[in-house]
Amino acid sequence: MIIAIDGPAAAGKGTLARRIAEALSLPYLDTGLLYRAVGRRVLDAAADPADPIAATEAARALTESDLSRPDLRGPDADRAASQVASIPGVRAALLAYQRHYGDKSGAVLDGRDIGTIVFPHADIKLFVTASLDARAERRHAELLRRGENIPLAAVKADLKSRDEADRNRAAAPLIPAADATQFDTTHMDAETALAQALELIQIRVR
Ligand code: DC
Repeated sequence: MIIAIDGPAAAGKGTLARRIAEALSLPYLDTGLLYRAVGRRVLDAAADPADPIAATEAARALTESDLSRPDLRGPDADRAASQVASIPGVRAALLAYQRHYGDKSGAVLDGRDIGTIVFPHADIKLFVTASLDARAERRHAELLRRGENIPLAAVKADLKSRDEADRNRAAAPLIPAADATQFDTTHMDAETALAQALELIQIRVR
């Protein structure tokens, strides 16, 4: 079974996807990490994450150990990931890995284009959203837990500009698949989101 979970940043996709995977004993892949790791490799090489040649080279050279680096979160990694994610060569280089991951024994994958490009025939597609205010508050709280005190207004502005870039890019833009179920988590806590998502999955695969 392939479960595709897409949506904008900080909508609750990651937590939901991980918990669905645990509940259904499926492997889980956070595909955002791939783009973050590519961004990091480009920054390490003192190159520009918007440079298609440097970014595509970094994506082709990506290894499993890049995915467990401790510096894949935070404002620099966010920005670099969003920049490399708009480059078609980067996306092409990461596609086979994502498909292979899911093809082995099924999986839950979260990202921006899982239901549209990576697994267009996924068994379940959820498009997870939440209001910009709710997403900014969640991301702000998450940053505080990690010891980063960035003003809420700055977190909100950053989310807004990354989402706009993800929605408006030509390569695999952030859009719901035609057959995705919209899942708005604005007024849900993580437990409620999991319970509702599992209910939806059960109805769909019955
Ligand atoms: O989900 P995230 O915030 O970790 O994603 C980091 C960046 O990577 C974000 O700007 C969108 C991009 N991304 C993408 O374009 N396609 C994916 N499947 C996953 C992430």
